[in-house]
Amino acid sequence: MTLEELEKSARGAIKDATVREALEEIRIHYLGRKGELTNILRSLKELPLEERKSIGPRANALRNDLEDLLAEAAAKFGQAEEKIVDISAPGKKAVRGHIHPLSRVQAEAVKIFEGLNFSVVLGPEVESEHYNFDALNIPANHPAREMWDTFWLKPQQKVEKEKMLLRTHTSPVQVRYMEEHEPPFQIVVPGRVFRYEATDQSHEINFYQLEGLMVGRDVNLGNFKFIIEEFLRKFFGKKIDFRFRPSYFPFTEPSVEVDIKLGGKWLEVMGAGMVSPRVFEYAHYNPRDWQGFAFGVGIDRLAMIKYGIPDIRLFYSGDLRFIRQF
Ligand code: DAH
Repeated sequence: MTLEELEKSARGAIKDATVREALEEIRIHYLGRKGELTNILRSLKELPLEERKSIGPRANALRNDLEDLLAEAAAKFGQAEEKIVDISAPGKKAVRGHIHPLSRVQAEAVKIFEGLNFSVVLGPEVESEHYNFDALNIPANHPAREMWDTFWLKPQQKVEKEKMLLRTHTSPVQVRYMEEHEPPFQIVVPGRVFRYEATDQSHEINFYQLEGLMVGRDVNLGNFKFIIEEFLRKFFGKKIDFRFRPSYFPFTEPSVEVDIKLGGKWLEVMGAGMVSPRVFEYAHYNPRDWQGFAFGVGIDRLAMIKYGIPDIRLFYSGDLRFIRQF
């Protein structure tokens, strides 16, 4: 390449540069250690004296020119950048994320129970048939299993002895916890549960529950009534009328369903009862020594009631117009 050609292409490149980084690339290409102009300057000493005399000064001058042009172009980018910053412009509002209403309600519920001296315990979402059913006094072929339509999992390995499933409720954590701990204690277990069901406005294939369990020498339903009264008052911010309705669960005896009265209507919010002696036996407690109450409340249900949400499917829709309201 002749000096003229080199000059033309370098000037063109500098003129066309649209970002500051491009200028640095151009500088390296022509003036860097292995740059095109640098190569010419370096090879001068191999040229005959005549040529050296004519090319040398022109090559040096071109180097100075290009350095000036690059500096000028860089200054222009600097100025352009400064112009963009209008320090008198009003600040842009930072876009903030929103806490999902289910996360919010779960956190609120957990906090209230912590205030009542309950500890928070977690359990696995993939559960064994034993903990989800048998240890809760729901043996195979027991009609009560129909209360929980189940997602069964395909066996992972031939050696796997037990059938595995997606837990249909948080109750299995009761037995898991009792196997490892001695009473007295009181725990809550928030978590996701799964049901193999058709969806509608009050049913989803997965939702959230908060399980409660309190065990001691003489824990009774009166204690449960007090705890629930406190919880509902704190959660809804006012005194709430509620009633115990007789019900059936295989893992509690007696069993109740708790309804709350809101806007003149009774709404069912949780299942509960006194822990069945059979469940204590599965956890290797002597049922003559211990008594306890347990309950399971639907987090989605609470959130729907608190915020007047008409359809459970909205929680899982991923619709930002919904989430942004919280
Ligand atoms: N596990 C029950 C369900 O998902 C709810 C429940 C009922 C939990 C009674 C309890 C209980 O701990 O005592 O339908």
